[in-house]
Amino acid sequence: MNEKEIFEIENKHSSGTYTKQSLVIVRGKGALLFTPDGTEYLDCSSGHGVANLGHAHPKIAEALFKQASTLITLFESFPNDQRAMLMQKITSLVDGLDRVFLCNSGTEAVEAAIKFSRLSTGRKNVVAAMRAFHGRTLGSLSATFNKKYREGFEPLVPGFSHVAYNNIEALDQAVTNETAAVLLEVVQGEGGVYPATIEYIQSARRICDERGALLIVDEIQTGFGRTGKMFAIQHYGVIPDLLTCAKSLAGGVPMGAVLIGQKVQNLRPGVHGSTFGGNPLSCAAANAALAVIEEEDLPSQAEVKGKYLMEKLKKLESPNIREVRGLGLMIGIELKHKVAPYIDIMQEKKIIVLNAGMTVIRLLPPLVISYEQIDHLVEVLAEVLNMEIE
Ligand SMILES: Cc1ncc(COP(=O)(O)O)c(C=O)c1O
Repeated sequence: MNEKEIFEIENKHSSGTYTKQSLVIVRGKGALLFTPDGTEYLDCSSGHGVANLGHAHPKIAEALFKQASTLITLFESFPNDQRAMLMQKITSLVDGLDRVFLCNSGTEAVEAAIKFSRLSTGRKNVVAAMRAFHGRTLGSLSATFNKKYREGFEPLVPGFSHVAYNNIEALDQAVTNETAAVLLEVVQGEGGVYPATIEYIQSARRICDERGALLIVDEIQTGFGRTGKMFAIQHYGVIPDLLTCAKSLAGGVPMGAVLIGQKVQNLRPGVHGSTFGGNPLSCAAANAALAVIEEEDLPSQAEVKGKYLMEKLKKLESPNIREVRGLGLMIGIELKHKVAPYIDIMQEKKIIVLNAGMTVIRLLPPLVISYEQIDHLVEVLAEVLNMEIE
């Protein structure tokens, strides 16, 4: 199949729910992606924040091969060596979160956290934030704010409300004795790359404690080193009751998880489950990924490289830039104009970047990106962001 055929087949048979790029990618290595003829692209999107370890990491490939030849599937009722190893490791990452529910994607992790908070508290209401993105299945979508994702799917799940992000007073007013949970991203990703303030997250913890609500943090995009710590919440000195993660957990293999604290109760057999959840293949990939994250100290790499990149971006002189913000290697460049044409030109120049809303360019490179690659990214951004585009 040549590139044109691949594109045409996908265009014809895909559901239609994605905007299809004409760029066909068949291979990856580290921070690079390749077309069938070997043309190289610098990936500053990581498949929406999945490829923290870089593409085709040999340790993930090796773990998958070994586990695929041993045991691929096993329902969670039956204990398994790879699953036990993962459970032990992942629950050691945040103090006080010593149980885990394993699933297959980010939205499923959020669904589980919402259900667990309702079951545990016996309450129905969930307070989320404006600009929040938590996924697209009906429970998570009810917590997602942007009407672009919600429209056409109402009625959504009742009991959800949204308050201004980083506004302590608004949160204080919204959380009542009927609130099951406050659900927050620590750095809003899709919503435009907005880090929470320390006071906001600490106040959220206090407000939840005062009203008997649970605090859920969604670390699906911020987890596993992306912001310079294993989890972004570790910048804030706060321990949530539930922490959702997915994306890079298993080195690119689909997997989600909810870490669960002491206050979460009533989790008994049958109240939730997933056929594929905790399958040995994904668990083996996650064990390998977590080992690589530690061996290569990816959180520190993200911290140091993030500072390096941020400093360079802040020095860019372009009349089109409104603000540069972020944490670690999760960076948003807010423009005064729509970003879509700039993203297209970046791609013509062989660099893949993401948007976050209409006016923010989002950079989520693999954490293994080299300094040379970062310098190249900044050089190209400097040129493109100085272009006058109608
Ligand atoms: C913060 C956050 N929560 C939830 C999700 C949904 O994850 P998934 O696409 O794996 O369902 C995403 C995906 O981008 C996300 O960034």
